[in-house]
Amino acid sequence: MSLHDLLIHRRSIRKYTAEPVSPDDVRLILEAALLAPSSKSGRAWQLVVVEDRPTLEALSQCRPSGAGPVKDCALAVVVTVDETISGAWVEDASIAASYMQLQAADLGLGSCWIQVRGRFTADDTPSDHYVQELLGIPETCSVLCMVTIGHPDETRKPQDVEKLKWENVHIGRF
Ligand SMILES: Cc1cc2nc3c(=O)[nH]c(=O)nc-3n(C[C@H](O)[C@H](O)[C@H](O)COP(=O)(O)O)c2cc1C
Repeated sequence: MSLHDLLIHRRSIRKYTAEPVSPDDVRLILEAALLAPSSKSGRAWQLVVVEDRPTLEALSQCRPSGAGPVKDCALAVVVTVDETISGAWVEDASIAASYMQLQAADLGLGSCWIQVRGRFTADDTPSDHYVQELLGIPETCSVLCMVTIGHPDETRKPQDVEKLKWENVHIGRF
């Protein structure tokens, strides 16, 4: 599949089968993150791979809603960046997460971005602090999101290129 076709076909997948993801595929997905561009080539990502079911269940509690896919995925990659190294941590983390999603799609796997930064648990704890505490992530490593990954248990239509928001593109001047 061409990169363009992959971009059209990648959709957020929130339902997964119980089939594990092979170690080779997990490695390729992590490699994609580590191949991502980063501010000043700081490569300040710190990624936490979680496959343990009770921990996934606990991670899904980082928000009262919106983190459901974490419960049933084969694995979740918690994307953090060391703010003492990167001056653009949100951007660095976002690109790494996106690269993982594209690599997963290329492998026929489903993935979903689960936002952590700026969200809160049911008892109003910042979700990023909750995740840091749960996984022993140092304070300097800011948590942006988790990427859930697994074999898809739902089919989603590819994007319709006829419906792209070309009106949001301005040529030369807004
Ligand atoms: C910054 C960001 C935050 C997101 N947060 C969540 C989330 O917390 N939970 C979720 O299920 N999906 C989340 N998503 C996935 C979006 O809902 C999804 O990308 C969007 O609906 C477009 O659908 P598509 O990915 O299938 O094209 C997030 C995506 C982005 C880029």
